[in-house]
Amino acid sequence: MTDVAGLGDGVATVDGQTVFVPFAAPGDRVRAEVVAGRDGTLRATGFELLEPGPHRVVAPCRHFGTCGGCALQHLEPAFYAGWKRGIVETALRRHDLADVPVDDPVPAVLGSRRRARFTAVGRTGGVVLGFNAAASHTVVDVLECPILTPRLEAILPPLRTLLADVLVPGERLSIEALDLAGTLDLLFLGRTEPGVAARAALAAFATSADVARISWSVGDSPPEPVALRAPVRARFGSVAVEVPPGAFLQPTEAGEAALRHLVLAEAGTAARVVELFAGLGTFTLPLAAAGARVRAVEGSPEAIAALRSAAGRLRVETELRDLARSPVRAEELSTADVVVLDPPRAGALAQAAEIAASSVRCCVYVSCNPATFARDARRLADGGWRLLRVMPVDQFLWSPHVELVGVFDRGGGG
Ligand SMILES: C[S@@+](CC[C@H](N)C(=O)[O-])C[C@H]1O[C@@H](n2cnc3c(N)ncnc32)[C@H](O)[C@@H]1O
Repeated sequence: MTDVAGLGDGVATVDGQTVFVPFAAPGDRVRAEVVAGRDGTLRATGFELLEPGPHRVVAPCRHFGTCGGCALQHLEPAFYAGWKRGIVETALRRHDLADVPVDDPVPAVLGSRRRARFTAVGRTGGVVLGFNAAASHTVVDVLECPILTPRLEAILPPLRTLLADVLVPGERLSIEALDLAGTLDLLFLGRTEPGVAARAALAAFATSADVARISWSVGDSPPEPVALRAPVRARFGSVAVEVPPGAFLQPTEAGEAALRHLVLAEAGTAARVVELFAGLGTFTLPLAAAGARVRAVEGSPEAIAALRSAAGRLRVETELRDLARSPVRAEELSTADVVVLDPPRAGALAQAAEIAASSVRCCVYVSCNPATFARDARRLADGGWRLLRVMPVDQFLWSPHVELVGVFDRGGGG
């Protein structure tokens, strides 16, 4: 085994051909059966470990190797951190930005994932509850998950018992679970509305398992509250925000704090900030509390309403806007000292083009996808901007995902 590929699979070369070996580590000697996928990619279906490589460690979770949630538990921490930094460096290299310094990632810690999506499938006499197996729709019955907060991990057994009464055999649903410093919020994503008996069971469960709120949603319909026992609030710096069911929050509290620290370090002294993809105000509210006048733009009506109401007397102007269809124009951006943006995985190419054409001097780009970040960074660089530094933040422990903050300023001529 020579390397670890971008999605976390081990990479071997056999007879001059690349073979992907999931859950193998560099330096491992393995015996494996290799099959060709429909696209011609060669993959091992499993392997026998003949000799471990120097970076291999014992995976801490019993589900490692079957559960699709983690791809990299078997790598020692220093190698794993370097590999995550390498994902960012590779993305930048592809867009001719190889000379940009990339920091070591801010590490994710065990027991810190406060947000997770579980899948449940009804079975005769019970239910399977957990995460999908790797590259499969089969659900792994998760009995432990060391990356989750203890509160989230502890909700799995009672949730399994509840769902055994709610789901008929073969019925499938997802549960978005959020642990806000011990306050638990559950959103059930079902294919049909819950019946009278299911509603009663959910309400009783909220009390017995001390869940603050349970909501239910079918398809794209807005979540309907089924039980509400306590407010669900996030705190961004000194400001509290009511969290609507299903709203976006950073997956770990420590990762959110690291991102906020990096954003404030670059934009915290600005007088005027335009913030794009503002969500519930993770960065908006601390920036405004630090004295900035912030124009916060966001596409979710629920998020922007919550942000507006939390902002109170802070100098925050909110705007509901679809930034993919209607990016904020260069001339509107030019009134700001700093632009902060934090788009979804698809990135923000059209918005990057407007930033490039504006006369703003500084841009802080938070990203959960190094590939689209590097593409957008190229667009800014082509418009005369300099990417000064990239700071990765690991919030998805043992997965191939990595977040980052990139800081841009105008090159000499801008
Ligand atoms: C990665 S989240 C960041 C939110 C916030 N900055 C935070 O840290 O919690 C991306 C945000 O972009 C919003 N969003 C997604 N697509 C959008 C679009 N086309 N226009 C405007 N906002 C969008 C989502 O609702 C979400 O709040």
